[in-house]
Amino acid sequence: MGGGSGLLWIGRALIVFQLINGVLGWGKEGHFAVCKIAEGYLTEDALAAIKELLPDSAEGDLANVCSWPDEIRFHLRWSSPLHYIDTPDFKCNYEYCRDCHDSAGRKDRCVTGAIYNYTMQLKSAYQNSVSEAKYNLTEALMFLSHFIGDVHQPLHVGFTGDLGGNSIIVRWFRRKTNLHHVWDNMIIESALKTFYSSNITNMIQTIQWNITDGWANDISSWESCKNNHTVCPEPYASESISLACKYAYKNATPGSTLKDDYFLSRLPIVEKRLAQGGIRLAATLNRIFASQIKIAEA
Ligand code: ADE
Ligand code: ZN
Ligand code: ZN
Repeated sequence: MGGGSGLLWIGRALIVFQLINGVLGWGKEGHFAVCKIAEGYLTEDALAAIKELLPDSAEGDLANVCSWPDEIRFHLRWSSPLHYIDTPDFKCNYEYCRDCHDSAGRKDRCVTGAIYNYTMQLKSAYQNSVSEAKYNLTEALMFLSHFIGDVHQPLHVGFTGDLGGNSIIVRWFRRKTNLHHVWDNMIIESALKTFYSSNITNMIQTIQWNITDGWANDISSWESCKNNHTVCPEPYASESISLACKYAYKNATPGSTLKDDYFLSRLPIVEKRLAQGGIRLAATLNRIFASQIKIAEA
C-alpha cells in the first residue's frame, strides 16, 4: 500500500469510527447525568426494587449502568433501532403510528415503542406478582433507564433522510464531526471543559440547583402522565422533534462551523432535557415500583 492510499485508508477508518460513535445515545456523561438526577427523586419502594435488580457491575448505583445499551448495541443488533425514532423529512411533529418502525417497516421498533415494552415487562412482573421469570428484568431496567434518556435527546427524534443528524457533517469549533454527535456528546463535553472544571458531578449539581430553583414550578407537570398512565413517552418525543427543528437543525446545515453562538444558545436546552429526562425517569420508576397496598390506599 502506498503512503497516499494508506493515509486515505486511515481517513476513511476515522470517518467510519466517527459515524459509529455518532449513532449512540446521549454520550456516557449524558446518560450518567439523567440517571444520577433520577436517583435523587426515587421513592423508597423504587430504590429497594432497583437495588434488587441491578447487576453487580453497577456497584449499587443505577447511573453506572445507564450506558449499557449503547455498549451492546452493535453486538445485539436487534436493539439498535430502539434508541431513536425518525420522522418524515422536515416534519416537525411526531406520530407513533406513522413513525414507530424500524427501517424494514417492523412496527413498534423505535424508542417510544421500547419504552412502552420495557415498562410493561417491569410492571407486569411487579404488580401481577408473576413469580416465574418471564423477562430479564435487570436488562429491562437498564434499557428503560437508557431509552428515557435517549428520547429526551432532540436528535433522537430527528429526520429520516439525515439519520437524526448523523449524516450532516459539521465542524464543532475546529473539529470535524456530525450534528448528531454534537448533541450526544460535544455540547456536554465543551460545557464540562468550559464551565465545570471537566467534572460531571459539578454539572449535575448545577442542573439539580436549577431543578429546585428555576424549574421548581414545572416539576409536577414534567412528572405527570395523562390519564394516570404509568409511562408517557409521546409528549417527550414530540418535544424532542420540536426542539430538533427549532434549535438542533437551525443554522446547522452541512459544512457549517458551529462555535460559541451555537454552543451558548443550545447548552441551556441540553441541560433542561437532562433535567426532564431525570425527573421523568424517576417518576416512571416510582409508578412501576409503587406497592399495590399504597395504590389501593390512594
Ligand atoms: N439512526 C437513524 N436515525 C437515527 C437517530 N435519529 N438517532 C440515532 N441513530 C439513528
Ligand atoms: Zn445518539
Ligand atoms: Zn442510546
